[in-house]
This record gives sequence, C-alpha cells and structure tokens, in this order.
Amino acid sequence: MTVPLAKLSVAGMTKSFQDLDVLRDISVDVAKGEFISIVGPSGCGKTTFLRIIGGLEKATSGTARLDGRVIDGPGSDRGFVFQHDNLLPWRTVFSNAQIGPEIGGYVNAEQAKRTHSLLRLVGLDGFAGFFPRHLSGGMRQRVNLARALAVDPDLLLMDEPFSALDAQTREIMQTELLRIWEEGRKTALFVTHQIDEAVYLSDRVFVFGRRPGRISEIVPIDLPRPRPLSVKRRPEFVALVDRIWQLIEEDVRASVLEERG
Ligand SMILES: Nc1ncnc2c1ncn2[C@@H]1O[C@H](COP(=O)(O)OP(=O)(O)O)[C@@H](O)[C@H]1O
Ligand SMILES: [Mg+2]
Repeated sequence: MTVPLAKLSVAGMTKSFQDLDVLRDISVDVAKGEFISIVGPSGCGKTTFLRIIGGLEKATSGTARLDGRVIDGPGSDRGFVFQHDNLLPWRTVFSNAQIGPEIGGYVNAEQAKRTHSLLRLVGLDGFAGFFPRHLSGGMRQRVNLARALAVDPDLLLMDEPFSALDAQTREIMQTELLRIWEEGRKTALFVTHQIDEAVYLSDRVFVFGRRPGRISEIVPIDLPRPRPLSVKRRPEFVALVDRIWQLIEEDVRASVLEERG
C-alpha cells in the first residue's frame, strides 16, 4: 500500500541471520501521525523489524525511509521504548529522562523545562528526584516513555512496553499512552502480543505471519477517538479482536508447538 507523503516507507525489506530468514520482502508505508500496532506469533520478526527501523540492526536487503531519507543507523528522529525498562539505577527520574538530549549535546534550561513538562505529561509530576528503585513497574515505563519523547522524535518505536506490567496497570498505561499520543500525534509503531491492546490503540494493525516474517494482513481500526476503555466491550471491538486472532491463531499454535518440541 502506498500512502501519499509517507512518514515511514519500507520497501522490499529482507533480513536473515546466517541461514535463518527472519523477514521476507516487507513493503509498507506509514502516514504521519498514524498509530500502528504489530502483532504476530513469537519469533516472527517483530523485534527485528523494529530494530531495523530504529537503526539498531541492518536489513539484509531493502530499505526503510523516514521522511524520504534512508535509515542507516540510530538517530534522535526515532525514540525507542523497550519491553524492559533500561533506566540507569544511579540516575534520578529526571536525569534518566534527559539522557537523549544529553547524548545529543543540547542540554540547557529550555530543554530541562521540556523534560519537566514531559514528566508531567506521563504523570510523574513530583517524582523527578526519585531513583528508579523507588518506582513501580508502571512508573518506570512512564520514565522510559518520557525519555523516548525527550528527543522529540518523529517516530516512536515501542516493543512490548507494557508486557511486564500487571493487567490493571497495563490498561491504565494504554489509556495514558493514548492521551499522550493525542497531544503530539507522533507516528508510532507498537509491538504487542496482546490483540485487544493492538486494537484499542491503533489506526491500523499489521499482522505478521510466521517465519519468514511477512505482513499477512493489514487491519484498519475504524473506532472513533478518543477511545474510552469501555470501547473494549463494544461488539465492533470484539469483532476486530476476533478477526485478528483468527488470522494468527494457526501461526501461534504452530510456534507454540515448535517451542515445546
Ligand atoms: N541477533 C540475532 N542473531 C541470530 N538470530 C536472531 C537474532 N535476533 C533475532 N534472531 C532470531 O530471529 C527470529 C525473530 O526474532 P524476533 O525479531 O525477536 O521475533 P519476535 O520479536 O517476533 O518474537 C527468532 O528466531 C530469533 O531467534
Ligand atoms: Mg520481540
């Protein structure tokens, strides 16, 4: 699919590790401000795909372009939130959130003000001086999100950022993420294995198929925004979750059996 003036444009992307084909010929465009979720069975290449877009990994062939420029390494135009928070334990919440600008060499009073307002945005007002060990898992992921946003990225890449959280915290974080996203409308790629999370958050869901990874289906999510959590009980929502689940069910079954075998 070609989106006019795509923010992110992936063309013929293939990735192999030695003789393991992980991604095969992925071509897809993402529009500015779109929220995309990626779902698919474990091992289908979701993290690899995100890492290539993040510039942390090189594609074997094909290209990814951000605003028309070929991605060939990490950059402050992309912010990354990983599954496990990788906060530095000896730094405060504030100075963890400031790492990006610090590395970029543009720390000043203006930037510090921005970081404080990001901490407010992620609901950590008053916690700037705390150390990570004094925070809950949900709060640590909020710091991660603030840190990713601190470089004011064009593209926000999130790899199962809520998977280590308990179910209630996770739901709160989903609504918080949407609230934050509504404020800046960053283009976002969000990997999750929870299909209802993907449907709740996204404009479109990319369903990845089993090895070698390819996009087997793109499901548009036409639910109006803003979305209260109660949208999850609506029949349209349940039908979308069902449909995506059916798309990946066989693949998931096969990969579970393989992991056991
Ligand atoms: N650096 C690497 N070297 C070798 N194999 C890798 C490497 N990274 C990922 N893989 C393999 O690539 C496949 C896809 O991994 P990954 O992208 O992590 O999948 P997912 O995130 O969908 O679970 C897996 O079989 C994994 O073992
Ligand atoms: Mg992964």
